[in-house]
Amino acid sequence: VKGGYDHFMLKEIHEQPVAIKDTYRGRLLVKEGIIRMAGIDDNLERILNANRIIVIACGTSWHAGLVSEYIFEDLARIPVEVEYASEFRYRNPVITEKDVVIAISQSGETADTLAAIKLAKSKGAFVFGVCNVVGSSIARETHAGAYTHAGPEIGVASTKAFTTQITVLTLIALKLAKEKGTISKSEFQHHLQELELIPDKVEKALLQDEHIKKVAETYKDAKNCLYLGRGYNFPVALEGALKLKEISYIHAEGYPAAEMKHGPIALIDEQMPVFVIATKKGHYEKVVSNIEEIKSRSGKIIGIVTEGDVDVKNLADHVIEVPETIESLTPLLTTIPLQLLSYHIAVMLDKNVDQPRNLAKSVTVE
Ligand code: M6R
Repeated sequence: VKGGYDHFMLKEIHEQPVAIKDTYRGRLLVKEGIIRMAGIDDNLERILNANRIIVIACGTSWHAGLVSEYIFEDLARIPVEVEYASEFRYRNPVITEKDVVIAISQSGETADTLAAIKLAKSKGAFVFGVCNVVGSSIARETHAGAYTHAGPEIGVASTKAFTTQITVLTLIALKLAKEKGTISKSEFQHHLQELELIPDKVEKALLQDEHIKKVAETYKDAKNCLYLGRGYNFPVALEGALKLKEISYIHAEGYPAAEMKHGPIALIDEQMPVFVIATKKGHYEKVVSNIEEIKSRSGKIIGIVTEGDVDVKNLADHVIEVPETIESLTPLLTTIPLQLLSYHIAVMLDKNVDQPRNLAKSVTVE
């Protein structure tokens, strides 16, 4: 069942190149220069006329939602709010018929997300689902949707669901951007081409596994870890920290790199590993100066960098390379080493990787 892997989580991490391809198959038509998604095409007017998009989700799916906020605003120029379903449903939110709600859920059974959908529907919003499990409650409760087609995800720690959710949301954002005319033809085409190359690049990122294992060995006894990123990679920092927490039980926090000096920098000493996402595209110089600040306080730096990087390599204790891509697609690559790192640390600490304590794969009670 585990396809020769020791754990479902590792199997699912390695399935990502195929899962991402399955997600965009039949939708991403590079030669034709179009994105085909029935759930969007059939409701195009409604979606294009939206005042804003509200994304609701929990956990890792909420992190995918945060990534989508950058993509939707950047490419399609649509205002986006990303909400924890559990907060949204209980705070008497302002929702109108002009809102489009996107609900993201791997299982399609998360109680808070389901309740938030019902609330949004009762206020007249149009609700679009991004689910993995076909025929799930959320898939049925939403007006329209797009499946991620990631295949079954058994490990409690979500991996391929996250990258395939980002893939679907990117396709939607690109499609809306094209319809709205907020992206040039050539830029649109460039995005399609780059997205098509992502599965091979994920494959390449996975080849760093042995090196990542060594990094895991170095930091497996840490009591606390910080994860930093900016822009598109800020949500990846949150996701990296969540992955470490839930399967290795090491306390970890994700932060936007520039927020460090508003508090968390006080935590930094030689005991504190800081994982910094510092890819070439996207605020690179600013992240490098954040790294210098950590270094001057004796923090241990592990940089997630673009292949061939020099500046971060000179400053960091370790670097893990990922292939180059356009900025909006970097989360699909920078996530990979952070998943592997958490996996190896949890295995080294002899934790139950696939079924961590106190957690359920789908949270069907609030
Ligand atoms: O099935 P869902 O995507 O709605 O689940 C949401 C969260 O419960 C889930 O992402 C959880 O945070 C994972 N264990 C994270 O790895």
